[in-house]
Amino acid sequence: MNRKYLIAGNWKMNKTSDEAAELVREIVQTVGQQMDVEVVVCPPFTALSAVAPLLEGATVKLGAQNMHPSASGAFTGEISAEMLRSHFSSYVILGHSERRSLFGETDASVNEKVRAAIKNQLKPILCVGETLEEREANETLSVIERQLEGGLKDVDGEATVGLVVAYEPVWAIGTGKVASPEQAQEVHAFIRGWLKTRFSESVSQKMRLLYGGSMKPSNAQELLTQTDIDGGLIGGAALDANSFIDLVTAAREQG
Ligand code: PGA
Repeated sequence: MNRKYLIAGNWKMNKTSDEAAELVREIVQTVGQQMDVEVVVCPPFTALSAVAPLLEGATVKLGAQNMHPSASGAFTGEISAEMLRSHFSSYVILGHSERRSLFGETDASVNEKVRAAIKNQLKPILCVGETLEEREANETLSVIERQLEGGLKDVDGEATVGLVVAYEPVWAIGTGKVASPEQAQEVHAFIRGWLKTRFSESVSQKMRLLYGGSMKPSNAQELLTQTDIDGGLIGGAALDANSFIDLVTAAREQG
């Protein structure tokens, strides 16, 4: 199965609209026409409207970092799927470990968002990953299994088209400590196996699994050559045009 690599930038709470536009201009200029790798940028909500017009006619796609599962209503400070769609977002990152640990998200609330995103034609990038404590207690695979089961509850096979899972070991996020290619591949293979049992062989072969956690140009190649790693969800290294472009180039070289 030939899965197209996906490199997604998770900008977190960084970049004003002007800064976001500047970064996107540089990305589009260099890799905005290539088709080998799917490239997605996920700026903060406030920069979506500045970035969207700069992606017109380019192959780079827009994503958001979170959303509320309801269509509208009294949810102060929240953003709906329809609002994201109106800014031409195609992807949405859901269940990131920072949302889980700092903002109280649970597998159940992540699941509501995943189902709402799919219903609204947004492709979820569902994040899963264990803490250092869980890894040291040998609980990595059971944690991942629980997050997959919870996050994908009541999602049927047909709805998985475009769905992406990102494995992000919490201890590797923003720490400079990257998972070894073997550690990452072990979890990615587990996720693919789980998807096969839960959905089907064909769904598991089509779905892209990203690695995230201190991925940068210097360690990208060894991760991207692993059988079940289909790209990266990039935090820190996505904030600089050159390093993000180098990551896209690293993926193109594997493709
Ligand atoms: P990092 O973040 O690349 O800065 O480790 C990745 C993420 O949190 O998605």
